[in-house]
Amino acid sequence: MADPSRRRLPDPTAKPLAAECRQGDEDTAMYDEDESSGMENGSAASKEMAIHTLEEVEEMKKAFLHLMESQGIRGPHYRFLHGNTIEIIKMKQQTKDAATMDISHDIFPIIQPHLYSWIKLYGKNFLHWFGTEPEIVVTEPELIKEILSNKEGTYPKTIVKGYFKKLLGDGLAVTEGEKWSKLRKLSNHAFHGDCLKDMVPAMIACVETMLEIWRSYHGKEIEVCGEFRLLSSDVISRTAFGSSYLEGRKIFDMLSNLGVLISRNVFKIRLFGIGRFIRIRDDIEADKTEQLLHDSIMEIVKKRQFEVQSGKADSFGSDFLGSLLKGHHDTDPKNQISAAEIIDECKTFYFAGQETTFSLLSWTTFLLAIHTDWQERAREEVLQLFGQQNPNSDGLSRLKTVNMILYETLRLYTPVTSIIRRTGSRVKLGKYEFPANMKVSIPPLAIHRNPDIWGQDAHFFKPERFSEGMTKTTNGNPTAFLGFGYGPRTCVGLNLAISEAKIALSMILQRYKFTLSLEYVHSPLIVLSANPQHGVGILLQPL
Ligand code: HEM
Repeated sequence: MADPSRRRLPDPTAKPLAAECRQGDEDTAMYDEDESSGMENGSAASKEMAIHTLEEVEEMKKAFLHLMESQGIRGPHYRFLHGNTIEIIKMKQQTKDAATMDISHDIFPIIQPHLYSWIKLYGKNFLHWFGTEPEIVVTEPELIKEILSNKEGTYPKTIVKGYFKKLLGDGLAVTEGEKWSKLRKLSNHAFHGDCLKDMVPAMIACVETMLEIWRSYHGKEIEVCGEFRLLSSDVISRTAFGSSYLEGRKIFDMLSNLGVLISRNVFKIRLFGIGRFIRIRDDIEADKTEQLLHDSIMEIVKKRQFEVQSGKADSFGSDFLGSLLKGHHDTDPKNQISAAEIIDECKTFYFAGQETTFSLLSWTTFLLAIHTDWQERAREEVLQLFGQQNPNSDGLSRLKTVNMILYETLRLYTPVTSIIRRTGSRVKLGKYEFPANMKVSIPPLAIHRNPDIWGQDAHFFKPERFSEGMTKTTNGNPTAFLGFGYGPRTCVGLNLAISEAKIALSMILQRYKFTLSLEYVHSPLIVLSANPQHGVGILLQPL
């Protein structure tokens, strides 16, 4: 816990920094361009100040490295200004180029080769650098539990800036304190219990629309990642925002555009404060996209408000957007939700609702296409429960085999590949002591492939390992499975995602047998979430 009375530790992230990486880590990475530098122009004086600062910062780094080494925390050598980003880019490029026809489910060395190598070299907890920003990688379950279960704000979320800020605003996924509690309460209500049950017909309608298109692919191959991307966009648009497919589509195109800009700039280093003077083409495009995104969301919000004001509807509605608008008009200032908060929540849920669920559906279909015995078992269960009828919410909770398959998919092909926090103050974590404001990264895949937790067969697809429930499977170790995170910031859309995946799979299994395309190339890649780089082609055989 924090103890401010003690000796001051060197602050490796003390401002001003000399150079920074544009992103932290691949997916949940936070953008770190320094916008508070106080450098108003590129005058000689300010340049001199920057040089002086560089020296100071390097001194600080040395003191910090000494402190880490004295605690037994090691890591790859820090390189001037770049940290370890060049090595990371090289390692990732090598594994990306090595796309292969061999299918191994041990994707950690492929998509996060730097973490894989450095855990082997430096141990379970180590230090690496994104530009001049240090990051502690933690893979010890006990420490992970301590970090993620903390409720006192000792390990808050990192501060989002730049392109990521444009994508998520200051919405639920990144905000802290009272604002977080207020928004979390609202979304907990909107995505659980009866509200979730009410969403089932809309989800079924979305899957029916997708399957209508699949009819023209009978006996042919179809690429399913694109299909599932559209499906999950459609589901979140209709269930949370009551908006049409086309309205939602506009928003997703803009979110995808921001996603591309983020991915393209993940490891780019910019000299300190330079964003103030030189705006690259991507900055301009990101600003434009942010404005368009804002306008499109406002259109949907205003439409809903107009329906009430004009007397066409007697309430704002019971979906997520309706709850946000009710909050906007709440007379109690404690519960009030501002217009800016509504926009940020909409962005967050459009993004989070789509990006991860489409990845889960794509990988599950891929796994069932090669493990046809499990496909058959899942189909039997679906037909026993629903026959040829559409799924219903009671039946969904009784889909045991499908549930096991989904959790095993999330274990092996976890969409969220880094869970990131920072130290809110000076902290003691296990036997370590860290200064304030340090980034702490938890890579779920490192834990999901750990043979001490999951056994020597950790790399194999074995849904039966979940047959006796999560607690038994993980031997009472609550952070052994991090597909949806852990602690107070656990995924709020968990139940929606699992229901959507169960409905889609049930309806596909009722209609088709499928096998993997002979053209399939196994090359998972992190583009915000972990995805099949070249898509997943399957051959559809109607039943
Ligand atoms: C298979 C699908 C999904 C996966 C694997 C997933 C994974 C995760 C994970 C790992 C976290 C924790 C991040 C952290 O601790 O930093 C998280 C948080 C979150 N997820 Fe999901 N998610 C999925 C679907 C969804 C859906 C459908 C929605 C929206 C309806 C959603 C909305 C959110 C939000 C808003 C948070 C932040 C919660 C908070 O900070 O209080 N997710 N998700």
